[in-house]
Amino acid sequence: MTSIADLPAVERLPYDIARIRRDFPILKREVASGAHLVYLDNAATSQRPVQVLAEITRFYRDHNANIHRAVHTLSVEATELYEQARSKVARFIGAADPREIIFTRNTTESINLVAHAWARKFLKPGDEVVVSEIEHHSNIVPWQMLRDERGITLKYIPMLPDGTLDLDAAQSIITERTRLVSITAMSNALGTIVPLDVITARAKAVGALVLVDGAQSVPHMPVDVQALGVDFLAFSGHKMLAPFGIGVLWGRLPLLDSMDPFMGGGDMISTVSMERSTWADVPAKFEAGTPNVGDAVALGAAVDYLTALGMDEVRRHEREITDYALRRLADVPGVTIFGVPDADRRGGVISFELEGVHPHDIGQVLDTRGVAIRTGHHCAQPVMLALNVPATARASFYIYNTTAEVDALASGLEEVARFFGVK
Ligand code: ALA
Repeated sequence: MTSIADLPAVERLPYDIARIRRDFPILKREVASGAHLVYLDNAATSQRPVQVLAEITRFYRDHNANIHRAVHTLSVEATELYEQARSKVARFIGAADPREIIFTRNTTESINLVAHAWARKFLKPGDEVVVSEIEHHSNIVPWQMLRDERGITLKYIPMLPDGTLDLDAAQSIITERTRLVSITAMSNALGTIVPLDVITARAKAVGALVLVDGAQSVPHMPVDVQALGVDFLAFSGHKMLAPFGIGVLWGRLPLLDSMDPFMGGGDMISTVSMERSTWADVPAKFEAGTPNVGDAVALGAAVDYLTALGMDEVRRHEREITDYALRRLADVPGVTIFGVPDADRRGGVISFELEGVHPHDIGQVLDTRGVAIRTGHHCAQPVMLALNVPATARASFYIYNTTAEVDALASGLEEVARFFGVK
């Protein structure tokens, strides 16, 4: 395994939006009736830069082989590249040891891994798991399944009308019976940034573990697991410039060591006889079968790209775009923006409605102008229930978005408002 110290330093580049945009050929695409793509669906998935696309090609063209299995040159190279990617990810999130990085398919699989391999082993009926009302379904459903199967109690920290969490209520909802607080760092539906320090302090005071759903935070802001003082962090590659189908679970090494495997099969064993098997050490214990080697290597390239920009700069840029968008959209007749009106307390996600117009109609009219947003419940139906809306329209930003693109969104919405006669 490559040690973090062995990795070459990544050169820091100035935040040059024109140069960044040149790295994303898809942004030059014409869509719909000749309109240029304005891609504002980054919370669903990001676009990929040429550097990541080249890394995928380079892996399959020059190094492709299965890993951890053979002594031939290609297998050794592929193994080295895979383990180097693990170390890059570890360094990116401040992990102490690359062995704490488990490659999964996505955030959902990472959370399910903890529900299966940690919670099913250590929780008993009456133990409590605490989530919040603003979670993505992937941080609700696995715990409901566990509740129904094992008799644990599932509790929710409520959302306040402004889309933030009720932190006073959190103090009493997290109790001595709480064994795990599983919480998003940033809502995918509203953009709310959750004060993890407050939640973690309460969880630690009662001896509970903390799992952070970092699907919307790791791609967009500096994240240091040691500074956060949490126990697990789950995130996806595809929201941070890497391919689909590669995700990460970070966990503290002693915790991962104490857990049972998630799936059985090749590579996760130490010995197998006809009677019984013993397990490999972490991380192999949790990576049964041939892993997604090429996409893990490409995730390493995505991490290099973001590191070169600097995550503090990524956050600064998105904060600026979000601040501009909050002000610009507020001027469009009939628009109501959900969530906190303050770019310091939210990420680059803006959910809104246009009075009397169904979000899908908004999405369709915008698409004719090349503007791509997401409409629907955003896999966060409890948030929609709390807002008392069936769905919202959502614009979400990333490293390459510009204020001109926010203007394109706003003028598209003005046209929708005119078309539907919104006053
Ligand atoms: N979780 C992704 C989103 O928010 C798919 O759109």
